[in-house]
Amino acid sequence: MFDDSRIVLSARHLQLMEKSKALGFTMASDLYTGSLLRTIASSKPGGHFLEIGTGTGLSLSFLVGGMDESSSVISIDNSEEFQQPAVEHFKDDKRISFFCGDGGEWIQNYKGKPFDLIFADAWPGKFNLRNETIGLLVPGGFYIIDDLLPQPNWPEGHAAKVDVLIGEMQNDPRLNITMIHWSTGICIAVRK
Ligand SMILES: C[S@@+](CC[C@H](N)C(=O)[O-])C[C@H]1O[C@@H](n2cnc3c(N)ncnc32)[C@H](O)[C@@H]1O
Repeated sequence: MFDDSRIVLSARHLQLMEKSKALGFTMASDLYTGSLLRTIASSKPGGHFLEIGTGTGLSLSFLVGGMDESSSVISIDNSEEFQQPAVEHFKDDKRISFFCGDGGEWIQNYKGKPFDLIFADAWPGKFNLRNETIGLLVPGGFYIIDDLLPQPNWPEGHAAKVDVLIGEMQNDPRLNITMIHWSTGICIAVRK
């Protein structure tokens, strides 16, 4: 039977959920998005990944769940409080690096290896500096964003910003994109 709600959660994910609840962190991506990230991460053995918006580490735990031993991920958040559970949980995993600070500054200053997958889950990299962020992908690299279908918590005026974002993505000649009417509304883009 087709059942897209059967998503296997790691013990680490369940622990991070508890910590997120205790912190009152409610901005995590849903489990569908997490499952998609895990699947795509596992398509890139030895991959180098970027997450903008660690939150408490819930989507990161899916990404890590899809990574092989030679893959690596950089995860960025400007809130030390939110990022702390993730830093603590992954402290012994050398494949994972954290940056705590402004994602926009980080994107503009990054001079390292390009990425095989970018999950842009904060304002910088999604609404701001998207061109620069997509410029950090290898050809064949994935750029993934969620929360594109109307959400009850969207502030006044946000829908118009999402419309502009979607229009720009659809017209970006560097990308092949698919919009998925599933989860919270996902755009999967691959750099040509
Ligand atoms: C949607 S939440 C991330 C959720 C996480 N990816 C998950 O699904 O579990 C967005 C995160 O972006 C962070 N953030 C907001 N503005 C930022 C900025 N300018 N630079 C870096 N991080 C930022 C917030 O602190 C928040 O934790």
